[in-house]
Amino acid sequence: MATLQLSITLAMFFLQLLSGAHSSTFSIVNKCSYTVWPGVLSGAGTPQISPTGFALQPGQSTSIPVPTSWSGRIWGRTLCTEDSSGKFSCLTGDCGSSTLECSGGAIPPATLAEFTLNGAGGMDFFDVSLVDGYNLPMMISPQGGTGANCTSAGCAADLNGDCPMELKVVDGSEGVACKSACDAFGDPQYCCSGAYATPNTCKPSTYSQFFKTACPTAYSYAYDDGTSTFTCAGADYVITFCPSPSTSVKSSNPMAVDISSTGSQPTSSAFIGGAITTTLAVLWQLRHLF
Ligand SMILES: *[C@@H]1O[C@H](CO)[C@@H](O)[C@H](O)[C@H]1NC(C)=O
Repeated sequence: MATLQLSITLAMFFLQLLSGAHSSTFSIVNKCSYTVWPGVLSGAGTPQISPTGFALQPGQSTSIPVPTSWSGRIWGRTLCTEDSSGKFSCLTGDCGSSTLECSGGAIPPATLAEFTLNGAGGMDFFDVSLVDGYNLPMMISPQGGTGANCTSAGCAADLNGDCPMELKVVDGSEGVACKSACDAFGDPQYCCSGAYATPNTCKPSTYSQFFKTACPTAYSYAYDDGTSTFTCAGADYVITFCPSPSTSVKSSNPMAVDISSTGSQPTSSAFIGGAITTTLAVLWQLRHLF
């Protein structure tokens, strides 16, 4: 009997919802005055997210449904171009794929948003890391989750101008990224490698302190966990490039397009609403059976 089968399927689906993990939505927002090309790298052994690379015009945003227990990184590529042969490349955050979509991670320096969803204790762990350097301001803001430190974290500051000379990446005369000291000098003291591969032996440096002072809630070196890892349960996440409008460039853009409502995926509140409706329908049908 098809109705019974359908009812059982729907009832099991709802039981899974009750017991199971929340699946999150990422909203990725570009408040920069320039185009950002987000890149996505899913961790080994987790479900992959698609697309792995796309363009976001100034003022534009997009929503991506994220599989339960996803882990991986999201970053922003800047100053990207396609050459006459169709090869796509970016001055910062390039993923080495020569295409709009990424098949690998960001080539440093790049600001990274890192996630482990439904990790230990069912909690989401997230951070913004400057351990591999910095290329643009980026914040993660949880929406609707719970937890003692379920708050916004990241780096709102624009460091490309203030970056120490020896770490600065320039395009002409303009700073476009800021290397980590590890990347710039390869010194085990800065990289927390070799004899310095423990929290007790690897200490902040004047370079990591430059990043930490500007961005107190972002990772500034490998063992910066205590002030840089944030946790939530049951949250969705907004990932914003250039969360604070730059003082030098006006942030509003009349050409801005919000494509967040054009996605075919339901938002999580619509999803939960649908699940409740579904359950009521199932209970309504089951009343004949028991
Ligand atoms: C958030 O909570 C976790 C788990 O208690 C802790 O390890 C981490 O240091 C906290 N992070 C911050 C920024 O306080």
